[in-house]
Order: sequence, then structure tokens, then C-alpha cells
Amino acid sequence: MLSFETFLQLFLLTTIAAVIADATPSNSRPSASDNSLDARSATDVDGTFDGCHYQVEGAGAFSNHFSFDFTTMDTLPDEFIASTYEVGSGPYAPYAHIFNPDNIVLGTGQPMQMIVPGGQTADPLDTCQLVTRYDDILYASVRTVAQVSPVNGTVHGFFMYMNDTQETDIEIRTGDPGHVHFTNQQTHPGNGETTYAVAAPSTMTSAFHEYRYDWLSTGTNFYIDGVLTLTITRNNPSSPGWLMWNSWSNGYAWTYGPPLQDNILLIRSVEAYFNRSSVDTSNCEPSAATSIRATSTSAGARVTTNAAAVSSRPTSAADIETTKTDADYDYYWDCT
Ligand SMILES: *[C@@H]1O[C@H](CO)[C@@H](O)[C@H](O)[C@H]1NC(C)=O
Ligand SMILES: *[C@@H]1O[C@H](CO)[C@@H](O)[C@H](O)[C@H]1NC(C)=O
Ligand SMILES: *[C@@H]1O[C@H](CO)[C@@H](O)[C@H](O)[C@H]1NC(C)=O
Repeated sequence: MLSFETFLQLFLLTTIAAVIADATPSNSRPSASDNSLDARSATDVDGTFDGCHYQVEGAGAFSNHFSFDFTTMDTLPDEFIASTYEVGSGPYAPYAHIFNPDNIVLGTGQPMQMIVPGGQTADPLDTCQLVTRYDDILYASVRTVAQVSPVNGTVHGFFMYMNDTQETDIEIRTGDPGHVHFTNQQTHPGNGETTYAVAAPSTMTSAFHEYRYDWLSTGTNFYIDGVLTLTITRNNPSSPGWLMWNSWSNGYAWTYGPPLQDNILLIRSVEAYFNRSSVDTSNCEPSAATSIRATSTSAGARVTTNAAAVSSRPTSAADIETTKTDADYDYYWDCT
């Protein structure tokens, strides 16, 4: 016999499952040729959510999760802001560059395109960048499934940024398709950045691969296609910040360029598990049905956070633009 209590629990669980399923419309699977990518990346740990935390293997517990399949979207999800500010030129940047939202193109049935138009001669160069609406992300596991542009002359960046000295990066120089760069920027002037170039997947510019960083309190672990490739413990950032994705050029040796033809970074999906420093989750009760909140911001999007996180204020675009200055970008020039 089912007790009333058990019945109620089952009812609640079924309802919640339905809500979550509803929030995940046809998380469209990649084409057959990409099945192997699925197998070696993007392990779905949703099943480990206990109402408060997700357990991510090799990383620990996180309170928040988002997953966006851009092939199902015509517009950016609310969690992201397309940057509009300009980064000045300097001794190691012959060109200034400006982030132009028009260079980020979404359309159902295709990956998101982040474009640096070819043949530019005017200053500033037209480039593009996406940032999370939250500036308070403190530790995260971030996965980006992307195909790198075969056109020389940009850097694609998938990174966490607070300022010059609190930053961890995955960077791909399209003029050096043999390598992927993993870096913790120096936490103190004179410390020296901690940067490594590892072998790139041989099909980096013709196929999608998963690029992942797990930024933890103990260090940053970098993965390619689900394989732990490098761990950096020195210069590990410890201040909350934004998650960012960009593609840009300043004409200097780190980026080369500007590109002669359209340089298009394709991003099929991004997924992140993360904690937020300004959200107090200490009252969260594991397995408490009422703490689960799944929302769908657009098709293919899933955002799940615990109840405590919902009440917090998102950062406005203005906050981001006024806190980032040209000087913050010195770090790019250090990278050569
Ligand atoms: C995330 O926050 C929870 C507390 O809500 C904590 O237990 C966990 O260790 C944090 N995760 C990481 C990777 O720091
Ligand atoms: C970056 O932010 C951290 C934490 O707020 C601060 O201690 C550090 O001085 C900042 N670095 C720069 C270069 O502004
Ligand atoms: C990209 O352009 C730079 C500068 O012209 C050149 O040194 C580099 O070898 C090029 N990379 C490739 C892959 O052709």
C-alpha cells in the first residue's frame, strides 16, 4: 500500500520531473558524425542535483547550472550580454578593437557565429564578446563546444575574468592552429603569468571539440574533449568575476591579423556549473522539492538554480562596462 506521504512525494517528484523536462525542449543532439564528441564530453550531471547542489566529477559541488544549445536559438539567452565597449590601442596593439553585438549571429539549426569581419582597415577593429550577466561567479566548471575559425588573425577566448590579476583563460590563436593556450594571469605584479601551450586537436578548425576549464579554489584544471590536459595551481584567481567568450584582433603578434577573410568562431553550446559569491545558499535544504526552480529562457536553454539564488540581483550591462577599462586589457599584450 502506498502511504499518503509516499504518494505525495511521488506526485511532487513527477511534477518536478515534468517541469524540468519541459524546460529542456529537445536538447537537440548533434548530427551522427558528432556522436563521438558527445561520448567524450559534456557529461550530463543533472541527475546528481539534490535540490541544492550538482556534483561534478573532478570538481565538487556547485549551486548553479546553465546549459545553452545555440542551435535551437534565434536570440541570446538572458544570462548573456553582448559587450559594446572599445579596447584602446597601445604599444603592443596597433589597432584598437570594439566589441560589436552585430557580429554575434544566432539562428535556429546552426551554431552561434562570433565573427570578426575580414578585410578591415579602419580603427577600431570590429570584434565581439559575450559575458555572463553575473559578475559574482566564484569557482566554476565551464564547457564550450566550438569549432575554431581556419582564418588567420584572431584570438578566440573562453575565460573567467575579474580584472588583470584575477583571470583564467583558454585561448586559441587562429594563426597558430597547432596549439591551445591555458593561462592563469599573474595575481600580483611581477609574479609572471602562468601560461602553457598544449597540442590542439588535429581537427580543431574543421570539427567541434569541447574546451573546458574547472576553476576551483585549489587550482584550474583544463580539459579538451573531456580529457584532463593541464592543471595550473599558481596564480589561481580567488575573486568572483564574469565568464566570457570572445573573438578579437588588435593586429599585434599575439592575435596577428586583422583577418583578410571573415573569421568565424562557431559555438554550438556552452554549459556551466558554478557558485555565486553574493548568493547565500546556506539555508538550502537538500532534496527539498520547493528549492528547485527550472526556467526556460528560450528553446534549448536550461537554467537551474536553487531558490536562494533566484532572489539575487543580476549585474547590469552598465556595471560591466564601467568596471572594465582599457587598462584591464594589458594582459593580452603580455601574452606574446
Ligand atoms: C560551492 O558552494 C558550496 C556551498 O553552497 C560548497 O559546498 C562547494 O564546495 C562550492 N564548490 C566549489 C567548487 O568551491
Ligand atoms: C583585482 O581584484 C582583486 C580583488 O578585488 C584586487 O585585490 C586586485 O588588486 C585587483 N587587481 C587590479 C590589477 O586591479
Ligand atoms: C598567420 O599570420 C602570421 C603573420 O603573417 C604568420 O606568421 C603565421 O605563420 C600565420 N599562421 C598560419 C597558420 O598561417
